[in-house]
Order: sequence, then C-alpha cells, then structure tokens
Amino acid sequence: MPENKINLILIGADELSLEKQQSILSYSGDIKSQLFCSKTLIDLIAKHTQDEHSIVIINLSADGLKELQFLNNVDDKKASVIIIGDQKNVDLLSLAIRAGVKDFIDVKDYEHKLDGVFCNIKKNITHAYNKNNVKRLNAIINAKGGSGASFIASNVAYVLAQECGLRVALVDLDLQFGSLGLNFDKIPKYPLTEALNVINDLDSISLEAYMSKYNENLSLLLPSPSDILLPGEINVAHLKKLLELLQINYSQIVVDLPRLIDPVSSMIMEQADQITLVLQQSLVQFRDGRRLIQILNKDLDIPLDKIAIVVNRYDPKNSLRIEDLKNIVKHDQVYTIANDFEHVASASNLGVPLCESSASTKIAHDLKQLARNLGQIKLQHEQKSLLRRIKRLLF
Ligand SMILES: Nc1ncnc2c1ncn2[C@@H]1O[C@H](COP(=O)(O)OP(=O)(O)O)[C@@H](O)[C@H]1O
Ligand SMILES: [Mg+2]
Repeated sequence: MPENKINLILIGADELSLEKQQSILSYSGDIKSQLFCSKTLIDLIAKHTQDEHSIVIINLSADGLKELQFLNNVDDKKASVIIIGDQKNVDLLSLAIRAGVKDFIDVKDYEHKLDGVFCNIKKNITHAYNKNNVKRLNAIINAKGGSGASFIASNVAYVLAQECGLRVALVDLDLQFGSLGLNFDKIPKYPLTEALNVINDLDSISLEAYMSKYNENLSLLLPSPSDILLPGEINVAHLKKLLELLQINYSQIVVDLPRLIDPVSSMIMEQADQITLVLQQSLVQFRDGRRLIQILNKDLDIPLDKIAIVVNRYDPKNSLRIEDLKNIVKHDQVYTIANDFEHVASASNLGVPLCESSASTKIAHDLKQLARNLGQIKLQHEQKSLLRRIKRLLF
C-alpha cells in the first residue's frame, strides 16, 4: 500500500465550506484532494466510499439521516469516513456510529477540529490493518481434488496483501500437480525445490530470489512446472527452515496443500495457525470433510478450533444446508463462497485473482470476508474513542 498517496474526498452541498475545508487540510503535501459538490449526496457517497486508501469527508445536508442511512447500507466500504454535521442531533450520531464512521465533527466546530481529526486518521490509515496483526500461517487443503482450494488460497493471499496491506507469501506445496502460478500468470524462475536444496546457504534476503513477485506485497513460492516430486522426496526439516525464513519477511503465509497426509503436510498443519478445509456442497464431500477433520483432530492432534471449513460454490437453493454440514462434520466454523462460473472463468483466462478482476461481485465479497477472518484482520476503527466522546456529549 503506497503510504504517500492518500486521496482526500470532500463531499457536500455547499461549495464554499468544501473549499474552506480543503484549504484547512492543504498543508499536507502527501494527499490528493478532490471536491464534489451536489445537492444530492447519495450518489457521491456510493461512489467514493469504495475508494481504497481514501479519507472521505461528508458534509451532511438537511437530508443527513437519509445520507447516513445510505452510508450504513453501503457494502464493503473501504474509505475512512469523517462526518461533518449537527452533533446535537442524537439520531445522526447513533446512525453515524452504526455506519462505521471514523469521526463526527460538529458543523460549527470544524475549523478547529478538522485538522487534528484528519491527521490522526491519516497517520493510522496505512497501518490500520497491521496493528493488531501477528504473523500467521494459514494452510488450505481440499476434501477432494477440484473443490477450489487453490482458487481460494490464491484469493485469500491476494486480499491479505492488496486490501489489508500485509506482506504475504503464497506457497504452492502441491509438488506434483501444483498449478497455483497459473492463477497469477506466473512461472517460477527458480522453483521451491531448488530453494530447499540450498536451504542451509539461504537467508531471508537470498530467499527472495526464489519468490515470484505478483505485486508490492504478494510473492509466490512455486514448484517447478516440469519436475515432479514424489512423496517422501522432500526433506521436512528443510521445509521447516524455509518457513522460518519466510516468516522473517512476510507477516502472512498462505500454504496451498495437496490432499495428502504425509510428513510434509502434517508438519505444515502442525505449524499452521489455521487449517482451512475446502469442500463443495455434496453429501460425499461433506462425508470426506468429516473424515479429514477426524484425521486432523484424532491422528494429528490438531485442536478443532484451528480448523475451519469452507463450502465452496455454495448455492443457497441446494437442499443440502450448512446446518446439515455442521451436523455431519460436527464442526461449526463454516464459511461459504458463492458459485460463480462466469467471473471465475474470466479471472482464470486473465491469469489474475478474481478479487482483482471482479472486485465487486458477491463471490469476491465472500472471499474478502474469509481472508479477513483467516488473517485475523481487525480493522482499527476509531470507533471506541468516537463512542467515548459521543457518550460524553450525551450524558
Ligand atoms: N466458487 C467457484 N465458482 C466457480 N468456479 C470455481 C469456484 N471455485 C473454484 N472454481 C474452479 O474450480 C476449478 C478447481 O479449482 P482448484 O482451485 O484448482 O481446486 P483444487 O485446488 O481444490 O483442486 C478451477 O477451474 C476453479 O477456477
Ligand atoms: Mg489445488
């Protein structure tokens, strides 16, 4: 996430106020500000609250309640929102809190307050996702080939890197049939197996030569598309060392595992903070899921709370319901990802993750939710301090 490019969007019905606010904040050289003046703010709110890495200041009009109601209903807001309005109006305040705004400044007070509020939010914004975040290792495995584990691993890694601004390493450990690189149109220059062969000579910096960089934050560690490794050919201790080196440079590691219980996958699952089992909505796959959970829990001693289930290609009209799955597998940490052949096929043809090519689809929304949960991303809202201040105002 480029730290020096924060978009400041000022929205309101009165051009003079907007200009005044812009000039208050103009000292800040590392922002790009734009004014949008209109009698009806709804369309502007819809458009600009989706902007990543933006701070949006909304000057409520006489229709403030409607505007906040609309803001509350905007799905997947990415911008940080500051409201300028009548702070004495309790309905406005409580709606603003519900809508997840960062701050509410009284319209009579903004000349004194705007500067400080804006600076605080700006300071926090680039690190907002990182603050509470520790190093995480996520392992993703399917209950049956073709369930979508690689597709999901690719998008989870992409979202953690792109949307959450974390350094992410995505590792394809399907050393026989791995095709994760295709999701990013990448073929490794130096494959994972070569890194393992020279692991004792590597450090976290030289390991970077083996990473295929997709963007500033996301790098892939891929097997060779031509040399197939047989199970047992990987030295588990070498792989463990490689993970340790990756953890120096990356705060999130996502491993795409083949459906194989062997020393390699057992070691990864033991090390993982979370294991996600991907299956589809059929009785056979639900039963396979139950077996795999039993193996993980009973044979590998992995606690159940470290295991999550993703029902991929989920169709709410299917007679098999999530409740059935929970009963069959006896596990209730379940996520769903929509079925969307068209957008998945288009992303695959383009060689980019779906969350990049079709960011505003339902399936992308599901994938983002999943990524935030698996990455344990806690959005650092200023909600608490805002709530505290509002309580002080009201009581
Ligand atoms: N939610 C989905 N909707 C539509 N197609 C999907 C979905 N998830 C995965 N696919 C497609 O299913 C196929 C198998 O996915 P893949 O990730 O390779 O499975 P696995 O790694 O479990 O073998 C791929 O062609 C992928 O693009
Ligand atoms: Mg796969």
